[in-house]
Amino acid sequence: MTLKKQSIVVAGGGSTFTPGIVLMLLENLDKFPIRSLKFYDNDAKRQKQVADATEIIIKERAPEIEFKATTDPEEAFTDVDFVMAHIRVGKYAMREKDEKIPMKYGVIGQETCGPGGIAYGMRSIGGVLEILDYMEKYSPDAWMLNYSNPAAIVADATSRLRPNSKIINICDMPVGIEHRMAEVLGLKSRKEMVVRYYGLNHFGWWTDIRDKDGNDLMPQLIDWVKEHGYVTPSELEGTSDEEIEPSWAYTFGKAKEVQWLDPDTLPNTYLKYYFYPQDEAEHSDPEYTRANEVMDHREKNVFSECNRIANIKTAEDAKLVADDHASYIVDLARAIAYNTKERMLLIVPNHGAVENFDAEGMVEVPCIVGSQGPEPMTQGSIPRFQKGLMEQQVAVEKLVVEAWMEGSYQKLWQALTLSRIVPNARVAKQILDDLIEANKDFWPVLK
Ligand code: NAD
Ligand code: G6P
Ligand code: MN
Repeated sequence: MTLKKQSIVVAGGGSTFTPGIVLMLLENLDKFPIRSLKFYDNDAKRQKQVADATEIIIKERAPEIEFKATTDPEEAFTDVDFVMAHIRVGKYAMREKDEKIPMKYGVIGQETCGPGGIAYGMRSIGGVLEILDYMEKYSPDAWMLNYSNPAAIVADATSRLRPNSKIINICDMPVGIEHRMAEVLGLKSRKEMVVRYYGLNHFGWWTDIRDKDGNDLMPQLIDWVKEHGYVTPSELEGTSDEEIEPSWAYTFGKAKEVQWLDPDTLPNTYLKYYFYPQDEAEHSDPEYTRANEVMDHREKNVFSECNRIANIKTAEDAKLVADDHASYIVDLARAIAYNTKERMLLIVPNHGAVENFDAEGMVEVPCIVGSQGPEPMTQGSIPRFQKGLMEQQVAVEKLVVEAWMEGSYQKLWQALTLSRIVPNARVAKQILDDLIEANKDFWPVLK
């Protein structure tokens, strides 16, 4: 059977992840053929550097694909089947502020969790709605696969403000952790595992992991994780060939302390910010946060390599590599385009998937995906510990969205106060007032 060729626009063409995703798409053309690839960004200069290199890569490796980079929404969003969206409203300059402002008060600042994630959410909602509206205007049948963060807040906002839109929010953290689990188990691929999982984005637990024959793999994994977190055997022995930055190495190790809270399940790494916020603050350098690390490493490496390719006009010896983890994006797009019924973890309206949880909360659960979109799989009732945590966190996320919709200072103060990461209402207010000042070009005016 010949597969219908697809037309894609990558929104956030200037993202540091774009080259890895393009190379991943090129590696998967047999499974997901592409006729047109476009980049869209609102920063022409940043996008051009990635686009100039991409143009050369495509000419050399898949010249049949039509490629174009643009800042014009009509040109970008017309005649597309999929919008792959990873924008960062405010870019790294604002991520740095999200991380550093709370640290002035001894509170951890993080990209997607706590006050940092709340600040980023208040910037992201408008940016994601804008591209969703462009898609619906110029390609009403298209689907948007969104991984712009903070995905939990963005997903809640889009589900409330654009309830009928064809947008699916996804995260690569479970994919990355499952990749590590497969290594611990000695499996070739994480796809040999069938998982049950529930939670919010960056806030969830695996409850069951089996091989394709139904054998229970949880006991072996739990034995490993309670001792080593998600550090792999080869990392422990120092024989791993995967490069990993110190902050991620720390996170994967810290996962063991997160696992201890519920010995029967396996946690998402992001729960560390909620269970051990003081440890995270102590472990961070308020003068040099993750944003600095990313700017000094990933951003420098990606842009200098793109510029080098553009200068020498060939990508034959390019050091850019396909982001294999990002192949879940192809799995998702394929599932919709060709009705493959792939089972994947997605962020979707609960609607009973977690029986004893808010029907309107956006949860991360396994879904079967076909051309009609995701069908969530029921995960039953959850224990009081997780339910309590999730109720609190979903309220934080919903208050942020309401603060954005209503321009409400009070609701944003409540959201910050309710976050497990912020110690009290006074500190919440101090952080909020500083964040308002720093975000005045991005947030709605709060009254
Ligand atoms: P980046 O700053 O390198 O790239 C983001 C790009 O978005 C920039 O080129 C910027 O100009 C552009 N942009 C900002 N606002 C825009 C708007 N309104 N319209 C169009 N373009 C806009 O950031 P990055 O580190 O490469 O990350 C990109 C995004 O992907 C972030 O939101 C990040 O959190 C997210 N991400 C998500 C996952 C996940 O699991 N869901 C995984 C990795 C990265
Ligand atoms: C994981 C998460 C993403 C997050 C990223 C941060 O992949 O799932 O949601 O954006 O980590 O990575 P960074 O390298 O930018 O700190
Ligand atoms: Mn994520």
